[in-house]
Amino acid sequence: MNTHTGNKKRILTGDNATGRLHIGHYVGSLENRVKLQEEYDTFIIIADMHAFAYPKYVGNPEAIADAVLQVAIDNLAVGLDPNKSVIFAESAVPEIYELSTIFSMLVSHNRALRNPTLKEEIKVKEMGDNYSLGFINFPILQVADILSVRADLVPVGEDQLPHVELTAEIAKRFNSIYGEFFTEPKPLVGRVKRLVGLDGAAKMTKTLGNTIYLGEDEKSLKQKIMSMYTDPTRIHPTDPGNVEGNPVFIYHDAFNPDKEEVAELKDRYKKGAVGDVEVKEKLFIVLKDILMPIREKRAYYETHIDEVKDILNRGVITTRDEASETLDKVKSLMKLDKFRI
Ligand code: TRP
Repeated sequence: MNTHTGNKKRILTGDNATGRLHIGHYVGSLENRVKLQEEYDTFIIIADMHAFAYPKYVGNPEAIADAVLQVAIDNLAVGLDPNKSVIFAESAVPEIYELSTIFSMLVSHNRALRNPTLKEEIKVKEMGDNYSLGFINFPILQVADILSVRADLVPVGEDQLPHVELTAEIAKRFNSIYGEFFTEPKPLVGRVKRLVGLDGAAKMTKTLGNTIYLGEDEKSLKQKIMSMYTDPTRIHPTDPGNVEGNPVFIYHDAFNPDKEEVAELKDRYKKGAVGDVEVKEKLFIVLKDILMPIREKRAYYETHIDEVKDILNRGVITTRDEASETLDKVKSLMKLDKFRI
């Protein structure tokens, strides 16, 4: 299965093992992964060690272990091809931890704290002072994820940009101190940078319960869409409505391939000539068409878990090959290979 010829450029991206993936992940990163897997050697990491950075998961290893499988299934269900792409669990690649320790020596304490995504997470997840040293360190662990396979490109949602920036910084610093080795990876943000939640919150996130999952069943999909937040100032369908910032229209823009229909709906909405119900029903059809084939593929893998485990096992073998090559080179440049037996 090792299709890695070494000639292609590489992608590494992935998700924390903290729960199933949703349509925000789809437009932020999954779509790009699927599209680019032909062109790039693609590594998909399921970051289970990352999950332990969150106080909520520290005492819940079963939830993390289950999420590893669910996230693997999500990736497979949207079209990642296990014969082209490598899917693996972070915890199975110990070379990543070694690299992470090495990289942590190249980042000042202040620089590690100066990370807008960390700050936002502390606030949104109401972590107060109750986060671990590992939480502050997790972007550096992510740097090790990315550099372990010497990735060139990292398809991610906008919120992950600070971590990719840190990766380029560390790669550059390593090169300037120990000698040219790493390429500085670049981020690739999806066509929708950040998808609003069903409730209109700035971000779709499991923590806020405002998500549509990739495996959502038809009934709950309908329920979720029909109770979506729209324009709060609009009381009657004959009132002129706002389409800007209106989640239902943001989703139409993001997912509806029929641009004419969207333009026409917006026009009628602004004039007070269409009700929320019709706009939502059309959105339901659009999302159903996208999600039901994904749901079917999910169902296949859910009943073939051994196949999923096998894919993950093969992924670890390929990734460890690459990561140990990286680590050997790094250690040799740092003279850390001198006293080994
Ligand atoms: N931290 C990322 C997230 O919350 C997931 C992740 C872990 C990741 N390691 C990565 C993404 C490496 C890109 C590259 O979504």
